[in-house]
Amino acid sequence: MTPGLYRENPLSLEEREVYERDLISFCDRELDLLGDTEGLDVLYAGGSSPLWLEGLSQRIGRMGTLVALEADTELVEEGRELLRDADLAAPVRIVAGDVFRPPFERNTFDLAYSAGLFHELDVRERSAEEALAALASVVRTGGRVATSDFVDSVSAVQLEDEELHRELARELSGAELYGIGPPERLVALHEALLDDVRWRISPPHPVRYLDRVVLAEEEPEGSQSLPVGKRRRLSGRLEALRERIRRDGYTRPATLYLEGSVFES
Ligand SMILES: C[S@@+](CC[C@H](N)C(=O)[O-])C[C@H]1O[C@@H](n2cnc3c(N)ncnc32)[C@H](O)[C@@H]1O
Repeated sequence: MTPGLYRENPLSLEEREVYERDLISFCDRELDLLGDTEGLDVLYAGGSSPLWLEGLSQRIGRMGTLVALEADTELVEEGRELLRDADLAAPVRIVAGDVFRPPFERNTFDLAYSAGLFHELDVRERSAEEALAALASVVRTGGRVATSDFVDSVSAVQLEDEELHRELARELSGAELYGIGPPERLVALHEALLDDVRWRISPPHPVRYLDRVVLAEEEPEGSQSLPVGKRRRLSGRLEALRERIRRDGYTRPATLYLEGSVFES
């Protein structure tokens, strides 16, 4: 799902409530897989949205801490602003930085967690293994690294949307996004670097009215600067995707949750 600006507000107040409730219940389902996180020092890697941070902070409680690491400085500012008046259990700090070089000392956290980060990692210069190793390096021995991300085990309209987003990123900046792939790829990645890896695939979690939200989005940012031929091809594919969304709704992918413990290095 690519975030974007909207042509107009596509939902009524009641519809927006339903939509947000479904998003929160998706986050809750994923966060529940972490089990007991009370009192832990937690790193949330790749993201600064209150949707995730409030749920995590609630679970960690007053005796723990939560730090979010996000590369996009605009999202960092936005996240800080949105959290300013939130009633948070564990204190939350949002830090601008790169998961490939987390700006923290070794052994700082009990848990490093990411949700939806890996498919958006730019792996043209450094690999997804390096990102996972970097996260493990700031977790104490015996602590955990856990990740959750979409996988392509069931077909979904969102997979097409994400692939289009990936191609657009390549055209615009040369980025090579890790993308959404089969569960085995992420399982192998975690098993190579962590101990006692366990994982679970959860079925697609529907979000009501997400189709209307996606259909109301503007043309993807930056696409106006593409050469005419490429822009026309992209527009054609976007229109085909929109047609499919109108026909089938915005069907969602399955999610893979993985966790493993950090051993002494
Ligand atoms: C699909 S979003 C996940 C959103 C997250 N679940 C949330 O809403 O909090 C992936 C996020 O990872 C961030 N990201 C991508 N590569 C990163 C990197 N190398 N270091 C830090 N953040 C990164 C992106 O800017 C984006 O906000």
